[in-house]
Amino acid sequence: MKIIQVKDYQAMSEKACELIVERMQKLENPVLGLATGSTPEGLYKCLIKKNKEGKVSFKNTTTFNLDEYVGISKEDPNSYVYFMNDKLFDHVDIAKENVHIPSGLEKDMDQECENYEQMIRNAGGIDVQVLGIGVNGHIGFNEPGTPFTKPTHVVELTDSTREANARFFASKDEVPTHAISMGPKTIMQSKEILLLISGENKADAVAQLIEGDVDEQMPASILQKHDHVTVIADEAALSKTK
Ligand code: F6R
Repeated sequence: MKIIQVKDYQAMSEKACELIVERMQKLENPVLGLATGSTPEGLYKCLIKKNKEGKVSFKNTTTFNLDEYVGISKEDPNSYVYFMNDKLFDHVDIAKENVHIPSGLEKDMDQECENYEQMIRNAGGIDVQVLGIGVNGHIGFNEPGTPFTKPTHVVELTDSTREANARFFASKDEVPTHAISMGPKTIMQSKEILLLISGENKADAVAQLIEGDVDEQMPASILQKHDHVTVIADEAALSKTK
């Protein structure tokens, strides 16, 4: 795992942007894995800027998001479809048919999980997967205890994750109880992984990720076994790492 320490959130976002733009310029048909949440917002702002300046094009880019809530319509401002359109896709030259976000609205969710895996395979796999990390070490919506062997699956959200995400909803009760998420197995199949981490509230998770054992109770720890992971973390996030 390569660790790049940066000063703060802004520097993390700019470094991630630089690396992604480099990959997009190099690859003929880049396939990006994307995340939602507060962490990648600065990266997306920077990518929009680079796109508007003509430094990078999304015309040949395909994207796969990590996850989506179950039971929330695409128009709901809390859906990840809405988030991604608002924060990135509506502002760049991507073809909407190349954008993939798992659907949490299917009758047969198991089938949707299988279809999502198939679509990733059909695209030739993910070239660069952008990840954030939860305070409990989750990646995607893979909560502690998720088997590392899981592909895309439906997950029941823990109280800690529902609480952390309640800030976007009117109350914690309105936070969905389930989500569909790429599994640890899907994430590990990406050719390259870029994990972005900012803020003191992530410092315990980061210390455990870097210094701890590979353990299903710490979902992000599986990344230690991937050959091409870059962690971009700010000083606050690394404040508890030796
Ligand atoms: C989002 C996702 C989550 C977040 C994590 C951190 O698609 O998969 O794992 O990356 O919860 O969220 P923030 O960035 O809001 O701290």
